[in-house]
Amino acid sequence: MFTLETKINTNSDEFKKNKEEFLKILNKYKEIHKNVTKGGSEKAIAKHKERGKLLARERIDKLVDPNTPFLELSSLAAYGIFDNGHPSAVIVTGIGVIHGHETIIIANDATVKGGTYIKETIKKHLRAQEVAIENNLPCVYMVDSGGVFLPEQANVFPDRDHFGRFFYNQAQLSAAGIPQISIVMGSCTAGGAYVPAMSDEAIIIKKQGTIFLGGPPLVKAATGEVVTPEELGGAEVHTAISGVADHLADNDIHSIQICRNIFQNLEKKEKQILNISPIEEPLYDPEELYGIAPVDFRKMVDPREIIMRMVDGSKFHEFKEDYGKTLVCGFAKIMGYPVGILANNGVLFSESALKGTHFIELCSIRKIPLIFLQNITGFIIGKDFERKGIAKDGAKLVHAVANANVPKFTFIFGGSFGAGNYGMAGRAYSPRLLFMWPNAKISVMGGAQAANVLITVKQDQYKAKGKEMPQKEIDALRKEIMDKYDFEGSAYYSTARLWDDGIIDPVDTRKVIAMGIAMSLNKKFGEHKFGAFRM
Ligand code: COA
Repeated sequence: MFTLETKINTNSDEFKKNKEEFLKILNKYKEIHKNVTKGGSEKAIAKHKERGKLLARERIDKLVDPNTPFLELSSLAAYGIFDNGHPSAVIVTGIGVIHGHETIIIANDATVKGGTYIKETIKKHLRAQEVAIENNLPCVYMVDSGGVFLPEQANVFPDRDHFGRFFYNQAQLSAAGIPQISIVMGSCTAGGAYVPAMSDEAIIIKKQGTIFLGGPPLVKAATGEVVTPEELGGAEVHTAISGVADHLADNDIHSIQICRNIFQNLEKKEKQILNISPIEEPLYDPEELYGIAPVDFRKMVDPREIIMRMVDGSKFHEFKEDYGKTLVCGFAKIMGYPVGILANNGVLFSESALKGTHFIELCSIRKIPLIFLQNITGFIIGKDFERKGIAKDGAKLVHAVANANVPKFTFIFGGSFGAGNYGMAGRAYSPRLLFMWPNAKISVMGGAQAANVLITVKQDQYKAKGKEMPQKEIDALRKEIMDKYDFEGSAYYSTARLWDDGIIDPVDTRKVIAMGIAMSLNKKFGEHKFGAFRM
C-alpha cells in the first residue's frame, strides 16, 4: 500500500490555533470524565468501603486479566440529567478480557442511590447485553443494586425496553449458548433477583449479598412475617438451602477469583479468521489529530489527514480516488487488522453514494470490517440533484450500510447532520460500536438551517393571511432554535442519552477500533446478502 503524505504544516498558526481550541474541548471532557467516574459522594464511598466492598471500577479492574485494557461504554450516561445525581447512570459497563475471553461486564455502582435504575441505567444495561448478543460475548453481572429507582418507575418498569427486558435478553443469550455469570456483591432485590437466577452460575458473598423477590419491609407489610435480610435471602440461604446461587464467597476479592476460575474452564470459541498483519504505528503522530479535528465546522477537513494518523504505517489503498470525491474510501490496516474505511469529505452527491455502496459491497464480499468516519452535513439537495435521483442513490448507500454482513464501527469526528448520519452508519444502522470525539455534534440539521426552515414556514403562514412576520419575532425564533440545537446537538447531550457508546480522545480511536474488531471476531461474519437496489 502507498503511504499517505500530509499537506498540513504543523508549525502553521492555523494548526496551532486549532490545537489550542481542541485541547480546551478535550480537557473539559477529561475533567468531567474524572469527576463523573468517581461515583457517589465521599461519604457514600466511605460507607461502601467500611462494609469491606470495592468500588464498581475497582471490582472490574480485579476481574479482568492483568495489563489488558477495559473499554468502558457510555461513562457519561445520564450526564446533565437529574442535576448529575446519577453519575455514569449508576452502572459501569464495558468490554474486558477474562482468561483470554472478550467479555461484557455490567457492574452496579451502589455508592449512588443504592445502585438503583433510572431510564438511562436501563438503556446502558440493555446496550451492554446487545453488544454481548451481537458479538457472542460472555457476560458477567456484578450485582449490587436496590432494583428500580422507585420515583421513576413509569420510565423504567412497564415498556418493552425497560427492566423486564434484562431477563428476556438473559434467556436469549443463554439459548444462544453464551455464558453468563453473576456475582451477587450486595443487594439483588425484586426483579433484580432474576439476574443471578437466570445466569449459568451465580456467586454470592457471605454477609454481604442478598437475593429476594420481596425485601423484609415488603414481606412484613404483605404477610406480617418479620425476617432479617440474611434469613430471607443471604448467601448461606441461597447456596445451602434454596440453590438460587452456586458458590459461596468470603468477600469481593474471593468472589472475583471464583468468577475468574469459571472463565478458566470455558471452552475457546472458533473465531472469524481475518488476514492479520504485524502491527505498525502510524507514521504521523496521532496527537497531531488535535490540530486537525474540526473545531470550526465551516472549514472542511481532508479526512485523509485523519486516516493517516490512525492507520498502520499511515498506509492507505484508496478506492476511486478521483470519483465521488466527497466520500473517501479505501483499505488499510489498524493494529494489524484489515479495515475498509469510508470518510466524509463534504456533502454526499450521487457519485459519492454510489462509490460508497460499491465499496461496502466489496468489503462485505471480502469480509473486511468497515470503519465509518463521520463529518457530514447531509446529502446534496436542489432541483437538479433531485431530478438526477439523489434519493435513490442515497438509498443505495443506506441499503448497503444496513445490510452489510461485516462488523461496522462508527466514529463521529465532526458533524453528524441529516440523512448523512444514516448513510454513514449512525446509531440506527447498528454499528457494533459508535463513539464521538468531544468536539462532535449531532442533529437532524445544523441550528442555523433549522432556524431558517422554521422561519420560512412561519413567514409563509403570515403571507397566507396577507401579513408579514415581524422582524422581532424572526429574531426571537432564530435565537430560540439555534440555542436549542446548540445544546441538544452537543456530544454531551448525545452521550448522556446513549445515542452513542461514549466520547473518546481522538488518539484512542485506533485502540478502540482494534478492541472492537477483536471482540467482533467472536461471532463469524455472515454471508453477504443485499436486497433490491433501486436503479
Ligand atoms: N428507589 C429509589 N431510591 C432508593 C431505592 C429505590 N429502590 N433504594 C435505595 N434508594 C436510595 C435511598 O433513598 C438513599 O438515597 P439518598 O442517598 O438520597 O439518601 C440511597 O438510595 C441509599 O440507600 P440506603 O438505604 O441508605 O443505602 P444502603 O446501602 O444501606 O442500602 C439498599 C441500599 C438498596 C439495600 C436499600 O436502600 C434497599 O433495600 N432499598 C429498597 C430496595 C427495594 O425494595 N427495591 C424494590 C425496587 S424493584
